[in-house]
Amino acid sequence: MTSPKNGNKPTVKHPAGIQLKMSTLLDEKKIQGRVKEMGEEITKLCKKEDLIAVCVLKGSFMFYADLIRNIDADVRLDFIGCSSYGNATQSSGEVKMTLDLTQGIEGKNVLLVEDIVDSGLTMSFITKTLQARNPKKILSASLLFKPEALKVDYKPDFVGFEIGNEFVVGYGLDYQGYYRNLPYVAVVESLN
Ligand code: IMP
Ligand code: MG
Repeated sequence: MTSPKNGNKPTVKHPAGIQLKMSTLLDEKKIQGRVKEMGEEITKLCKKEDLIAVCVLKGSFMFYADLIRNIDADVRLDFIGCSSYGNATQSSGEVKMTLDLTQGIEGKNVLLVEDIVDSGLTMSFITKTLQARNPKKILSASLLFKPEALKVDYKPDFVGFEIGNEFVVGYGLDYQGYYRNLPYVAVVESLN
């Protein structure tokens, strides 16, 4: 697997043998700068509160690890797993919980940390599910937000970058399980 360089549109050989054209949308420096700002915004709001930061697996693991290092508050961690995509680049519309939290959240402040809000179905499903457990407050932070792709009325409280209705990979986001380890976000321009 080769890595696309800034501004280039190389053909990348996918491990399954498909040729992908990618171009960098957000480089490492831009992502890290924004994640630091988001951490500061969250700190301002949550400084005096106890917070359970919930990583929505798998896509947000990298963003989550960077974000929590930029939050200066009393934070405890937890993880939740949801799946809606399978191997396609379009949402199946059906969200399933694949892993639940390990702690109760009743009366607690919860910060949901997601990689991308596309149709909004995953985050509204998680929010509804957790709301039924009577937390004090649920806030959400998403690195990416595709407003044009929304199918339900949902907006994260903290957004890293608004992007167009394009399929992106890297910095935790995958195509068929690959490219999560790229330190930048790239647009997949063609799948053959
Ligand atoms: P939603 O339920 O449609 O908002 O989609 C949420 C999930 O779909 C995200 O957490 C991602 O895992 C996945 N997803 C949505 N858009 C993309 C994309 O452009 N690239 C990779 N994964 C995506
Ligand atoms: Mg995700």
